[in-house]
Amino acid sequence: MQVSSARIALEERLNQLVQPTPLLGVLVVAAVFFVIVGGATFLVLAASRIDLQAWTDHAKRSIAPPLKAADHINDGKHHLLLAATGSVATIKIPNIIEALSNYDDLSIRVLFTDSAANFLQGQSGEQPSMAQIAKMKNVDGIYHDEDEWRKPWVRGDSILHIELRRWADLMVIAPLSANSLAKLALGLSDNLISSVVRAWDATGILDQARPGVPLPYDGKKGIIVAPAMNTAMWHHPITGEHMRRLYEDWSVDSGGWLEVLRPTEKELACGDTGSGAMHDWRFIVTAIESRLQLSLDNGEKGWSGT
Ligand SMILES: Cc1cc2nc3c(=O)[nH]c(=O)nc-3n(C[C@H](O)[C@H](O)[C@H](O)COP(=O)(O)O)c2cc1C
Repeated sequence: MQVSSARIALEERLNQLVQPTPLLGVLVVAAVFFVIVGGATFLVLAASRIDLQAWTDHAKRSIAPPLKAADHINDGKHHLLLAATGSVATIKIPNIIEALSNYDDLSIRVLFTDSAANFLQGQSGEQPSMAQIAKMKNVDGIYHDEDEWRKPWVRGDSILHIELRRWADLMVIAPLSANSLAKLALGLSDNLISSVVRAWDATGILDQARPGVPLPYDGKKGIIVAPAMNTAMWHHPITGEHMRRLYEDWSVDSGGWLEVLRPTEKELACGDTGSGAMHDWRFIVTAIESRLQLSLDNGEKGWSGT
């Protein structure tokens, strides 16, 4: 009898200990609540921190920095606008930039049409990505069509194609595709490159030389174009019409602002053999050095041209 009453007392005591009290239940619910809410808050904060970090990184790495030409008037550098349109020869752009990397007083801004950008997406050693090109010496910006319309324009905002033109001492379009050649010859301006060309100061009235930096063509800025296209495209009569406009009406040789580097003959990337290949990129480098009067401190050219 005594044993069983002691056992009952013990069981009651155990039940008291094991059964959750109301206070314990509240504590458990509160703990679960804090774990869930705290965890969710942590995740939201972490995510927003990551986004913020990504945004900051993007801003730092931006390959198309905003441009106000007036901010660069006294930088003492030659300003080269290097543009490429949709030809295979776009893959020579990194070679041209690399060859100009010995000059410390050269600033290059690179422009691509949407078609041209396809050729430089990091798909092979000779076709680095835009991010890789942006890191090359002297490259101070890479611009695509969408950079013109980054945000809805309001009064006071700069206009990219005008700022690029004001900024440039020399523009080089290498390669110039048949399509972009046609646009230039007809005065069409439906993308960034053709807008810069269309807004070019053909008279030399607006854009003056900056202190200590001579302009290439008798005190005037100018554009060099290097057409590149399939042989059949090159021999098409419409190409002749467009080229005549550039050669005869706008050429620097007759007081104009445009210089044409004629295509050469070779087996093209498409397999056809004949005229239409872009002028050798090494010659384009030599032309840039010559027109911008680039020289090293010792007076020599930075690149042998071989
Ligand atoms: C792989 C590939 C290579 C091309 N190569 C040339 C070329 O060498 N020259 C040319 O005029 N068009 C070439 N084209 C066609 C142009 O990219 C196309 O006409 C385009 O609309 C040009 O646009 P853009 O002048 O705005 O860059 C090529 C197209 C492809 C898909």
